[in-house]
Amino acid sequence: MRIVVIGSGGREHALLWKFSRSGYSPTLFAMPGNVGMEPICKLVPVDGSVQMMLDKVLELGPDLVVVGPEQPLANGLSEHIERRGIRCFGPSADAAMLESSKVFAKELMRANAIPTAEFEVFSDFYALSEFVQNHPRETGRVIKADGLASGKGAFVCDGDDLVLEIAHRLLVDHALGLAGARVIVEEKLVGREASLHFFCDGERFVALPTAQDYKRAFDADQGPNTGGMGTFCPARHVNDELLLEIERRIVAPTLGAMAVNGMPYRGLLYVGVMLTDDGPQVIEYNCRFGDPETQVMLPCLAYDPIDAMIACVDGALDPSRFSHAASGAAVCVVLCANGYPDHYDKGIPLVSPHCDGQQLLFSAGTTNRDGKWVSNGGRVLNAVGLGVTVSEARHHAYELAHRACVPGLRIRGDIAISEVE
Ligand code: AMP
Ligand code: GLY
Repeated sequence: MRIVVIGSGGREHALLWKFSRSGYSPTLFAMPGNVGMEPICKLVPVDGSVQMMLDKVLELGPDLVVVGPEQPLANGLSEHIERRGIRCFGPSADAAMLESSKVFAKELMRANAIPTAEFEVFSDFYALSEFVQNHPRETGRVIKADGLASGKGAFVCDGDDLVLEIAHRLLVDHALGLAGARVIVEEKLVGREASLHFFCDGERFVALPTAQDYKRAFDADQGPNTGGMGTFCPARHVNDELLLEIERRIVAPTLGAMAVNGMPYRGLLYVGVMLTDDGPQVIEYNCRFGDPETQVMLPCLAYDPIDAMIACVDGALDPSRFSHAASGAAVCVVLCANGYPDHYDKGIPLVSPHCDGQQLLFSAGTTNRDGKWVSNGGRVLNAVGLGVTVSEARHHAYELAHRACVPGLRIRGDIAISEVE
């Protein structure tokens, strides 16, 4: 079996690591991948264009392509590959609109009574400021760009002055280009967050183990939103009853609506939920695996995800074959460059620490320069610890993270601290 993984981050490294342990003993390719993955796969250089990725996939003739990031999915890579008779795990561009257009997603939720924050859509700054002034709100609002913005398109605002400042930046100064040409203004929800992932075959679905992400840059949830600074799995605060409620009130109606709209959702659906006093509410949908959620979910997956992915692509998922219960626990600590998510240096020399049997080091933004292993992005390395409990996994993750954290990199110190026993 030959498998191509599209993407280059820690999520893709985790996918390749899991596949490398499969009973199918697949030959693995990463497109373009990063240098830290080389021990387990071949790297295939590509630019970001769908055409080049498609050409390279056709040359390799794999049995399965797994798409990591959202951008190629939004650009239609999945259907281009499938049209050539190659299985591709990842939704069509239409179905990926659940992530690539927040306006599409919010309107779908409103039309189908799927619980989410109340919202309005604006493309005109003056209409937005009039709305905000006429509807004062004590509890804060969130303003979000409609399009893809690499995790930089959502702004949680405690006061309306900030809402207007951000709206001006997006709608008047075009700070995010076309992605911010329309914005959503929604109520700020209060509660604990959870990241829920589902294998979907267009109709049926099955949950993966639950995870929690830490999105803010600094300890105690201070600082700007990032792509994710750490995760743990399982998220005990999502018990079986709550998961069932999320499946019934959110996942089933979402898949049903997508099918009725002629864009059946096949692939991985990641639902970010806020667990509020009024029950679970959708914060966002993503059309792919979370990063760094994947780095903790896959080590806790008791079955081979290749079987689930193929079943999804073939529209033949039998949920009873795949259990959402985590096997053990995992914690991921992200090592990022100082200054991330804003301005940061690249080219920081890295070390390659020894991992014991309870530790995994996934490579995200790294490359080789002049024969040296150096950083090449904001999120650089992922230190993952495994254990029977999250508390034990956390100990292993931090022990590794501290050894890998060279000058120029930083970590959050409080990942999974709520789980310490
Ligand atoms: P998003 O890009 O929609 O996932 O938003 C990024 C982060 O902003 C989320 O993980 C939340 O922490 C926060 N956020 C987004 N929407 C809301 C909301 N309505 N209420 C409170 N926090 C939110
Ligand atoms: N960790 C958040 C995301 O992947 O969007």
